[in-house]
Amino acid sequence: MSNRWKIACLDVWEQDVQDATRAVAPDDFDLHFATSYDDAEQLGLAADSDFILAGWSPVPAAMIEGSPKVRMVHKWGIGFDKIDLEACRKAGIPVLITAGANKGPVAEHTIMLMLAVYRQLGRMDQGIRGGRWLKKEARSATRRLDGKTVGLLGFGNIGRMVAQKIRGFDVDLTYYDIQRADRETEKELGIRFVSYDDLLSSSDVLSLHVPLDDGNWPIYGPSPIPWDSPNQVPIEMTRADMDRIKADFVAATERALLAGFDMVELHCAHGYLLSSFITPLSNHRTDAYGGSLENRIRYPLEVFEAMRAVWPSDKPMAVRLSATDWVVGQGMDGDQSVRVAAAFREAGADLIDVSAGQTTPKARPVYGRMFQTPFSDQIRNAVGCATMAVGNIYEPDHVNSILAAGRADLVALARPHLLDPNWTLRAAAELAYRGADVPRQYAAGFDQLARNLERAQQMEFRA
Ligand SMILES: Cc1cc2nc3c(=O)[nH]c(=O)nc-3n(C[C@H](O)[C@H](O)[C@H](O)COP(=O)(O)O)c2cc1C
Repeated sequence: MSNRWKIACLDVWEQDVQDATRAVAPDDFDLHFATSYDDAEQLGLAADSDFILAGWSPVPAAMIEGSPKVRMVHKWGIGFDKIDLEACRKAGIPVLITAGANKGPVAEHTIMLMLAVYRQLGRMDQGIRGGRWLKKEARSATRRLDGKTVGLLGFGNIGRMVAQKIRGFDVDLTYYDIQRADRETEKELGIRFVSYDDLLSSSDVLSLHVPLDDGNWPIYGPSPIPWDSPNQVPIEMTRADMDRIKADFVAATERALLAGFDMVELHCAHGYLLSSFITPLSNHRTDAYGGSLENRIRYPLEVFEAMRAVWPSDKPMAVRLSATDWVVGQGMDGDQSVRVAAAFREAGADLIDVSAGQTTPKARPVYGRMFQTPFSDQIRNAVGCATMAVGNIYEPDHVNSILAAGRADLVALARPHLLDPNWTLRAAAELAYRGADVPRQYAAGFDQLARNLERAQQMEFRA
């Protein structure tokens, strides 16, 4: 006998939408739609369901507790503030989210608003409502959108959709975002990237697609210094904030343990919270957590120690550092990072993951092959601790020479794996290394590559 699944659809949908949904649902899904947002009806609907589908309607703890068969809550649309996540977590029920598909309508409203302003629609509307047809006045006052410079501040999903839809109006399109889009997208949408100041001074129409000034998720830091001019200003952390956030780190460590992770790495690099305490470029505090290096690492160390206390001593912990800020004569450098690494080691760190930079937009990295490895070398050999080298390491020979020369104990590669997820297996085949852990399903591919490479090498040798 086949299993039938009862789906409680908590939102009230029109009959034709219900029919269309039923038409595409799998045969063994029984869809039950709410007819009202009445609490009792909603609870009753969910009570003997296997899945809950919710949009606007809340999924409170009482619903989770009163629905013993439920195995998943699916929320459509952004945001899960109406779902009692704690109750779901307790009951071991996963919560799934499908982001809303509203960028099209928002973009169209944006363009309609621009047209309404240019075509004096508000005034015309008022005139008509007052019984006057403002043809003459409107003709002289109405402007056209073509040829105007439309500046988009924020180039996320909605900004891009506006760009796509407004192209037909023959406007000159520019944008600014803290992250520049790739050149192909710019070309495809016929849009130019300009600086924030140029956007403000050159746009006839400025269309904002950035988060609100108010009501945002607040960000915290050692000092109220934003990353760059249009970024949010962090709240300078009080001691109470430090305690609360330290407790969050500890809770995350406990969850990692529960989830069965083997290692935890505390991120003290790349401008994240603890990194911004360590570098004097973002820490301007005058209390016990700012000023000297000892003071600046006090809070990161405190967090580390609290995590170490709940993380089993037989499981390793790593700390990621930005060994330099890449600003000449300012900020962190290799020598100071040796002291930071020594302090973390003293506190029980088993590995220092040595990265660099990304702590300030003023950074001018000296980029090249294995460019961060000298810092790993310096920390490993000055402190006598295990390190991991990262950064533009992309050949098996790089990895082996770093390890053989004692410049690191581990080497991690990121970007080479983006296009070649089996980079490590390929390297093993190239080096005729037979100890690699090849998944059984891939063994034939590994053997073939190793054989072909060996043969090619022999041919080369003979030639
Ligand atoms: C897609 C991608 C995402 C990354 N995300 C993070 C991150 O969240 N935190 C972090 O510390 N480093 C992150 N990195 C940086 C890598 O950890 C690594 O240090 C950096 O890419 C340099 O190594 P590579 O030259 O081998 O790519 C990311 C790198 C890539 C390519």
